[in-house]
Amino acid sequence: MLSALTSLAAQQGRSFWMPTQGSTFAPEVDGVFQFIFWLSVFFFVIIIGLMTVFVIRYRRRPGIEADNSITHNTKLEVFWTVVPSLLVLVIFYLGFRGYIRARTVPGDTYQINVLGKKWVWSFTYPNGFSTNELHVPLGRPVSLTMTSDDVIHSLWIPAFRIKMDVVPGRYSKLWFVATEKGEFPILCTEYCGTGHSDMLTKVVVHEPSDFMKWMDEAGNQYEGMNPAEAGEKVFKKYGCFACHTLDGKDHPIGPTLKGLWGKMETLSDGKKVLVDENYIRESILDPQAKIVKGRTPSMTVFKGMIKDEEITFLIELIKSLKD
Ligand code: CUA
Repeated sequence: MLSALTSLAAQQGRSFWMPTQGSTFAPEVDGVFQFIFWLSVFFFVIIIGLMTVFVIRYRRRPGIEADNSITHNTKLEVFWTVVPSLLVLVIFYLGFRGYIRARTVPGDTYQINVLGKKWVWSFTYPNGFSTNELHVPLGRPVSLTMTSDDVIHSLWIPAFRIKMDVVPGRYSKLWFVATEKGEFPILCTEYCGTGHSDMLTKVVVHEPSDFMKWMDEAGNQYEGMNPAEAGEKVFKKYGCFACHTLDGKDHPIGPTLKGLWGKMETLSDGKKVLVDENYIRESILDPQAKIVKGRTPSMTVFKGMIKDEEITFLIELIKSLKD
């Protein structure tokens, strides 16, 4: 039993310290980590051990005078300067080599666009389809072109040993080759506001043939659903739950969608507006156009991010939540 467990752990390169080794970078990164770790343990034991021995052995005792006859030892001093310097250079070489490999995106990659926003990830594939979970084929180089819609986020896939900031107004890149099938966590590691911990999702690594199958099926993601059900899926997909509820409870940032349909809202300039299809559409695409009295203009602009079909589903969802 135990040997079966250890062999499973060994298979995926998982250890007490480390998660599964899920990409081609993982063994190298872990190797450098192990090297630095055991080197530190070695010097910790030697330095603290000798210090302890000396403190006890040469402690001050009555009747024994201090002997200051040794001032220095050139050979010893050269030795303890040169050896650590060489070790530091080795660490630099190993780390820099790994860094350069991780930063150099090869030419022929499967390209996925990543958008970080408060508080959800959106992964868009070459065919324009997008998801909140990252799906990738096994054994094929994948590159991520990443940007943010609002503040700085940071995409981290521990199993792949890769991490990169996602910054508004510019594109950052990551790449990897997944080597283990399965699901692994993705985290945001840059504190980005109250929903920071909601930016936990996963990467699903498929066999290449399963990946194509998944892509075909996922393309029809709303098939077999009625429009309101599809709307709920869209609601989750774009992270609307970060600011809106569906159950009638008010959220400090945005209104609940329950009972919203057909309501007369008073705007910040005192005008009244009926919540209908066009108002909802405008509020999604250009949320700052009409601000309801008492609310702050804080909603993400979804223009260019959401498809018309999905807006229609959201409208149907809101209609279905009429009191
Ligand atoms: Cu996004 Cu933390």
